[in-house]
Amino acid sequence: MFRDGLIQNGALVQAEQPWSDAQLASLYDVFAFDGDLPLYLELARTQGRRVLEVACGSGRVLVPLVRAGCDVVGIDVSPHMLALARAKLETQSIASGGAQFVRADMRDFRLERADFDLAISAVKSLAYLTERDDQLRCLRTIAAHLRRGGVLAIDFLHPRPEWVGAATGSMQHDLLQRVPERGFTLSRVESVVSTDLARQVRVIRSAYEVIDDRGAVVTKRFVEWPYRWTYRFEAEHLLERAGFAIQGVYGGYQREPFTSSSPAMVFLATRL
Ligand SMILES: C[S@@+](CC[C@H](N)C(=O)[O-])C[C@H]1O[C@@H](n2cnc3c(N)ncnc32)[C@H](O)[C@@H]1O
Repeated sequence: MFRDGLIQNGALVQAEQPWSDAQLASLYDVFAFDGDLPLYLELARTQGRRVLEVACGSGRVLVPLVRAGCDVVGIDVSPHMLALARAKLETQSIASGGAQFVRADMRDFRLERADFDLAISAVKSLAYLTERDDQLRCLRTIAAHLRRGGVLAIDFLHPRPEWVGAATGSMQHDLLQRVPERGFTLSRVESVVSTDLARQVRVIRSAYEVIDDRGAVVTKRFVEWPYRWTYRFEAEHLLERAGFAIQGVYGGYQREPFTSSSPAMVFLATRL
């Protein structure tokens, strides 16, 4: 079931993930990140320009791909994130002909075409699926839309012992960003609500505060959401069961070797 936070008032959002809430979705791009873009642009150049982006969100990756001349289909379950992506194409005057948006669940979408050269699942989006059957369904659905020899680039969190072992109540990812054009500062603090080692699921609380220029908090929004982590060889088995051959696993977006201390765990896998 997907819960949409659109109609919820007040500070506590009850949703499967923050981006189903209209207000939180509108804050997604405040904490900018583009370290993975060169990898995806390079893959699109070498693999082919027909790209499927699963959980494309607000178009952080999709928009630069369209600008580079790719023909991209973006799938996402959040109408708010898709609306932001469409708006970015419009405001940046990028011809939207190269982009198609589909509001669908990544576990079981069906497109009319199955000729994609490249599929992308960026910034740990598979972690929103907490059950292994759902993860497998998603990977099989992606495989079904790629041409033979097409490549999936998928970015997982590297579950290092210090991340997995973080104590309940401990805070992580304390971010603060001033947004002059919107006249506020955004604070985000994530804390550990619970960690279930048997299910490999951590419940995270994200607390967002919008602070005006006088230092007053204008809006508070809390969301608690489950995050499923995946280990390296588990990911390899899942990808292989879904019809992929592992091409490489990297510890970063410049294809650094994957080691004990790698900050990321990025797979490139070829559709058999
Ligand atoms: C952290 S955002 C990442 C967005 C984008 N990939 C990026 O790199 O900026 C995660 C996205 O996953 C989407 N998402 C979560 N569960 C989903 C599902 N079951 N099906 C499709 N999209 C989903 C959310 O709506 C959100 O836009």
